[in-house]
Amino acid sequence: MRIPFVAGNWKMNTTVSEAEKIVIEMLEKLDRIEEVEKVLCPPFVSLVSIHMMLHDSSVKLGAQNMYFETKGAYTGEISPLMLRELCEFVILGHSERRWYFGETDEIVNKKIKAALSNNLKPILCVGERLEENEAGKTEEVINRQVTEALNGIEPVSNLVIAYEPVWAIGTGKAASGEQAVATIRFIRAVVAKIWDESIALDVRILYGGSVTSTNIAEFISYPEIDGALVGGASLKADEFVSIVEQTAKIKKRIK
Ligand code: 13P
Repeated sequence: MRIPFVAGNWKMNTTVSEAEKIVIEMLEKLDRIEEVEKVLCPPFVSLVSIHMMLHDSSVKLGAQNMYFETKGAYTGEISPLMLRELCEFVILGHSERRWYFGETDEIVNKKIKAALSNNLKPILCVGERLEENEAGKTEEVINRQVTEALNGIEPVSNLVIAYEPVWAIGTGKAASGEQAVATIRFIRAVVAKIWDESIALDVRILYGGSVTSTNIAEFISYPEIDGALVGGASLKADEFVSIVEQTAKIKKRIK
């Protein structure tokens, strides 16, 4: 049975005090929602403080990126060793990392390996760009991204995959539920091919890209979509709480 999962990716938004304020606004309500795994991914500089705030709550912490080496002369980088004292999850391979910072599938693969060997649970992001989508290359791109990310990795069920079509991120133009579920079924089939069917059935696969409290129901009403990776809407306490509440309610109904 896959536990529904909703994570908020705050990206490069919020100072430490702003991040703390948002957590204060949402924590009590989020904490009360039991049927969903809830994860907040603030910027690195807020992790220590939010780690302390989430202590004793059911809300978990994730980082937005990390380097694949554990320590050394890598000025400006953050390692899995540093993160694992604070976080349970780490987002890897986000399209903004791939396209603005040149992260290749090979780098993403090294990061996934480093996360798993340091007891961090990766949230692997995959997704096609607009021109790839329009050229009918969605499956080809997704197949490559998933296959290369998992290359040489032993089957693990504590991997979360987020399908985030690049054209839907931050555009207000979400994929339709139908589009999202088709690609998510495909991702699960790719995982089954690389590992096996039963592990693939345990891996949670999320949708991300312009998710709001208005459209979340469209995605999570499909049993194959296990939750959402939320960007902009996760910075607004009421929005994010509503997204998590709706996920809990709908997933309970369709169980
Ligand atoms: P938006 O929800 O702002 O479109 O961002 C999605 C995303 O990239 C989450 O990782």
